[in-house]
Amino acid sequence: MTKSQIWVAAFIGVFGILFLIQQMTTDKGSYTAGSSYEESTTGMNQSNSGGEPDAKALIATLGCMNCHGGNLEGTQMGPSLVNMKEYYNKETLIAYLRNPEGNMSAARFNDYKKKYPGGLMPGFGNRDVKELGKIADYLLER
Ligand code: HEC
Repeated sequence: MTKSQIWVAAFIGVFGILFLIQQMTTDKGSYTAGSSYEESTTGMNQSNSGGEPDAKALIATLGCMNCHGGNLEGTQMGPSLVNMKEYYNKETLIAYLRNPEGNMSAARFNDYKKKYPGGLMPGFGNRDVKELGKIADYLLER
């Protein structure tokens, strides 16, 4: 081998090694990304099973039960939320939760005003619409 042939061989060798290292690191990278993606989706599926635990937890943390009762059966502070599917679909229920005052045209709200003079349904427009969707799904299933 001449001196220049040795240089060429060395270059090819170095590039080969760099190529292998690159393959190994990209493989590793996509493997971790893949497995953590799987973890996060299985995690979501677990907490979402049935949709109920999530919605119930949200209803507890947002204080709905304080006025609507532990089983949402109604208290002196707020009406029963048992038959919401008679009045709402998911979209209109989310709209109501986001802005109750702007969605009080139905006749029963006149009764509510008399029945719960001290209480007014607070708006939840500052919450994630996805969360309100879960609550809506839950209320409409009852
Ligand atoms: C401060 C007490 C209070 C809290 C907290 C509260 N509500 Fe209400 N809610 C009311 C009152 C009072 C009404 C009756 C309408 C009115 O007077 O504003 C009402 C009405 C409603 C209605 C409409 C019922 C109908 O017949 O159309 C829904 C649905 C509802 N609330 C869901 C919720 C959910 C879900 C939460 C928690 C995210 C919640 N409320 C938290 C007091 C409350």
